[in-house]
Amino acid sequence: MEEKKTIFSGIKPSGDLTLGSYIGAIKKWVELADSYNCYYAIVDMHAITVRHDPAALRRRTLEQLALYIACGLDPKKNVIFVQSHVPAHAELAWVLNCYTMFGELSRMTQFKDKSQKHADNINAGLFTYPVLMAADILLYQTDLVPVGDDQKQHVELTRDIAERFNGIYGDVFKIPEPYIPKVGARIMNLQNPLSKMSKSEQDAGGCICLLDKPEDILRAFKRAVTDSGSEVRYDPQEKPGISNLMQIYAVCTGKSFEEIEREFAGKGYGDFKMAVGEATVALLRPLQEEYNRLMADKAYLEDVFAEGAQRASAVAEKTLAKVRSEERRVG
Ligand code: TYM
Repeated sequence: MEEKKTIFSGIKPSGDLTLGSYIGAIKKWVELADSYNCYYAIVDMHAITVRHDPAALRRRTLEQLALYIACGLDPKKNVIFVQSHVPAHAELAWVLNCYTMFGELSRMTQFKDKSQKHADNINAGLFTYPVLMAADILLYQTDLVPVGDDQKQHVELTRDIAERFNGIYGDVFKIPEPYIPKVGARIMNLQNPLSKMSKSEQDAGGCICLLDKPEDILRAFKRAVTDSGSEVRYDPQEKPGISNLMQIYAVCTGKSFEEIEREFAGKGYGDFKMAVGEATVALLRPLQEEYNRLMADKAYLEDVFAEGAQRASAVAEKTLAKVRSEERRVG
């Protein structure tokens, strides 16, 4: 039998998880769980590249684990762990820093955005953030990296770094591919459909978090910014707001864009927004119930972390040993 391929992905515990992260990443992770060896990390070391509250980071790390499981990731089938529990990530990141060019990192869109937003704290970690991400991915000899559209550039850089390293030392790393969903790769802010829904901008109803109350979700969709027309039609250029809502509705209901256009032909935007809100509430309700149940059992969650770290370390250490022996002839 052919060996299962490997998947790695991660999310920063830097804010409450959003509908964007769920649709762009976690939902795909759940679908892929049976067919691949999966590693899903809570990447807390990436979260400290901006100033943070340590207690909140710790709390969110546990909450994020409960949410991963509540979304349908079974910790028996998937290795779920915290990045900082596996020191190999930091060690490989240092080595890869020495194989990554200043010019490459300067071109990263996320670095440019973040350094504008955090102009008073453009630290070296923010700059080398994609190298730690490359270490995350390469440690597990990953085939596929399921992410939203905004992380594609980082996965491409990971491939370049791995190819450069392999070019010098032989086949140390598997070359990974990004895996981006066809629908929902970039869910936009409901108040500003030209800007990505982001956990760092959880304000004024533009962002839906997975644990939001149903009434808040319905209100946010009711107030979502659309356009001056009245036709529910998929056209991201002319109708970015409606097209974003159509993506969310398509993912929540499994309907195609054509089916949605037919369903709302002759109806106004009001009916459509209400339906998207209700579909989102229905999607999140079971997930929230499971989350509440899991959060009442912290001992279980801590056990999952301990087991995840052990399973992840065993694989990561093998790759790291290979790196040490090829690059320095030690070990
Ligand atoms: P992060 O934490 O910003 O986002 C987590 C995942 O959610 C996706 N995503 C979205 N998808 C669609 N629409 C949106 N509005 C939206 N917002 C977020 C992201 O594309 C991502 O897949 N650097 C990464 C975390 C990371 C990582 C890794 C990912 C660290 N190491 C290794 C993959 C592999 C990040 O900041 O994602």
